[in-house]
Amino acid sequence: QILPLILSGGSGTRLWPLSRELYPKQFLPLVDEVSLLQRTLRRCHEAGLDPAIVIASHEHRFVVAEQARHLGIGLDSLFLEPVARNTAPAIAAAALVAATTKPERLLLVLPADHWIVDEAAWRDALRKAIPAALDGAFVTFGIEATRAETGYGYIRKGDALDGAQGAFTVAEFVEKPDRAVAEGYLAGGQHLWNSGMFLFRADRLIEELGEFEPALIDAVRQAVDKRAKDLDFQRLDPDSFAKAPSISIDDALFARTRRAAVVPCSIGWSDVGSWKSLMEVLPVDDRGNCLHGDVVLHDTQGSYVRTDGVLTTVLGMENVIVVTTPDAVLVANKDRLDGLKGIVATLKKDN
Ligand code: GDD
Ligand code: MG
Repeated sequence: QILPLILSGGSGTRLWPLSRELYPKQFLPLVDEVSLLQRTLRRCHEAGLDPAIVIASHEHRFVVAEQARHLGIGLDSLFLEPVARNTAPAIAAAALVAATTKPERLLLVLPADHWIVDEAAWRDALRKAIPAALDGAFVTFGIEATRAETGYGYIRKGDALDGAQGAFTVAEFVEKPDRAVAEGYLAGGQHLWNSGMFLFRADRLIEELGEFEPALIDAVRQAVDKRAKDLDFQRLDPDSFAKAPSISIDDALFARTRRAAVVPCSIGWSDVGSWKSLMEVLPVDDRGNCLHGDVVLHDTQGSYVRTDGVLTTVLGMENVIVVTTPDAVLVANKDRLDGLKGIVATLKKDN
């Protein structure tokens, strides 16, 4: 029995102007007709996992509830964070709740905003991870690195774990290395990307995270104990939760623990982090273009053009991203998208 925990607190600013604070990327139908969150819920359901816990910002409570209802897939519960504290406190909250009923329960942490092409291969990787997780390891799922991405964690695979088919020890875990280091890892061919999906026992997480971040566990425990149940929502206590340090599970646990394990997998994974990476999982036409909506292209190559409503035409361009929404338009060089985060931050300040 595996309890999925779906992390749905991200803001997806690199997919502006479609992804907005009140409606970030996990709630958008970016790849097919359902949202990334809905696909994640369905993937869990089809794998026969228990109903999922979703943890999201208080502001997104109705979107999450509505999207789950629309799919017809029931949730275990919907936890609401009064403030964002990154992934470690969110995961700790779910582990504390799960451990009260069954300490050894396996938690499967899943980002709400990833795309997986080969779901059968994903289920297969999950099966390989179970024995190691039951045995007390913190299992991650490793993806073959194909570029020197600095926004990911890197894992160097160690020895095969005893008795666990397809799971290995983690010889090294480095979260978001700088460019030179990432290039070295890519050239060396020894490192996998951390996919950000994890499987472990609830009691082990509390134990181990409690050693590295005792104040975090104390604050989150209080936030859970004093939570308010409101309709279908579980509201974490604001004062207690705010006291938790803001830190990712990667930095708080995986970069420090000796009990990390990795299951390498080939599942057609993308974190849909930017317009460029979205393009990589979409079908392209014979000129390398991806179109969405009422779009007319002429003499244009390697571009992503999307519109929601307004007729959009592009003439004589190469490698551009054009995204039109009713109140904002993006026109960008496909290889300059790193700067988008900064622009969105400036826009936010100006408003
Ligand atoms: N509930 C909740 N609360 N969810 C959160 C919060 C939060 O405060 N912060 C982030 N999340 C969710 C995001 O929506 C996303 O689904 C997931 O947690 C991971 O957070 P990101 O902010 O997207 O992390 P990242 O992309 O920088 O890095 C992680 O993912 C990479 C792969 O995509 C790390 O695990 C890296 O090591 C990994 O390579
Ligand atoms: Mg991410």
